[in-house]
Amino acid sequence: MMVCEYKPGLEGIPAAQSSISYVDGQKGILEYRGIRIEELAEKSTFLETAYLLIWGELPSKEELEAFEHEVRYHRRIKYRIRDMMKCFPESGHPMDALQASAAALGLFYSLRDLHNPAYIRDSVVRLIATIPTMVAAFQLMRKGNDPVRPRDDLDYSANFLYMLNEQEPDPLAARIFDICLILHVEHTMNASTFSARVTASTLTDPYAVVASAVGTLGGPLHGGANEEVIQMLEDIGSVDNVRPYIQDCLERKAKIMGFGHRVYKVKDPRATILQKLVEQLFEKFGHDKFYDIAQEMERVVEEKLASKGIYPNVDFYSGLVYRKMGIPTDLFTPIFAIARVAGWLAHWKEQLAENRIFRPTQIYNGRHEIPYAPIEQR
Ligand code: ACO
Repeated sequence: MMVCEYKPGLEGIPAAQSSISYVDGQKGILEYRGIRIEELAEKSTFLETAYLLIWGELPSKEELEAFEHEVRYHRRIKYRIRDMMKCFPESGHPMDALQASAAALGLFYSLRDLHNPAYIRDSVVRLIATIPTMVAAFQLMRKGNDPVRPRDDLDYSANFLYMLNEQEPDPLAARIFDICLILHVEHTMNASTFSARVTASTLTDPYAVVASAVGTLGGPLHGGANEEVIQMLEDIGSVDNVRPYIQDCLERKAKIMGFGHRVYKVKDPRATILQKLVEQLFEKFGHDKFYDIAQEMERVVEEKLASKGIYPNVDFYSGLVYRKMGIPTDLFTPIFAIARVAGWLAHWKEQLAENRIFRPTQIYNGRHEIPYAPIEQR
């Protein structure tokens, strides 16, 4: 048997062959199904991009309308799911609430007709349609309010912001939010996508696939960095404090949140797009000193760390966008999940097409031939 070198975290080891997305970390390129992210962010919508990722091609006008229609009419969640969510503790993290709710959907739609394209489409539509409803419902219920019913006359992102804030959003805010979803929908083989594919490989239902991926995304090393960026900007408090803060981080060898990436060694292309969105948002809804702090941070970090390939990543500016929209910090990662569910489902479908159950090996470094000690001798 071939002996492989052990790589902690499987760094650099291909876990799948995939045609869903592509990253060139040296040139700062991200493509979904071969199309550059900049073009999709400018011209596409989240649902259109989700369709592209899951079915491999941009939809025709008729295909897109049919998909939007199906998603629109599957947004409501069952009363029993809502009642179950009402029993969740208000102090619980919204990611835990989302993981439990996504898994609970599997109780109602447990058929595992994995070779049937209609089943696959139905599951894709239901998950993309109901995850935002569940995130908004938990937010309202933990404040003691009743969840707001989805509105069929609103687009995907506008409807989510409406359900969350109980008022119709400004069209620019809704469009910017939709672009944020496009930027977060997919990013090659990361921890939650790997988790989704491992779960998918056992041929379980897609609700279990998404629930396991949500659980993986919830950790601070993966989905949670944009929450920490906001905390950091609040701690810094003013532009004058930026340089001493960064100097202190470097002396303590502490990581500066929102900077650096395992793959990108130049500025993350998603951060470049997000920065422009922050500017548009602030122009319309008023300036924010946190953007000045962020810009100064980018300047100082570039001066000190560009030689190591440390530049802003996607998390550096996304928190500023959500904060300006009045979204609570602990909903940033559930919003990441609202977007990423479409990427996970694309990987679910790709995994099923040529499935082999994941069964890696391990390097045993424990003991052997230990005599069993009776309990009174231990
Ligand atoms: N601040 C300061 N120095 C940094 C940073 C940072 N944010 N990131 C990397 N470096 C330095 C390291 O100290 C190291 O320096 P050294 O060679 O002198 O020891 C060098 O750059 C390489 O760093 P690694 O930690 O080996 O890089 P790795 O690829 O393992 O880490 C990671 C990537 C985890 C994203 C890291 O940059 C980090 O912790 N950043 C802050 C957290 C963050 O923003 N996470 C979100 C990532 S995007 C996402 O997950 C959606």
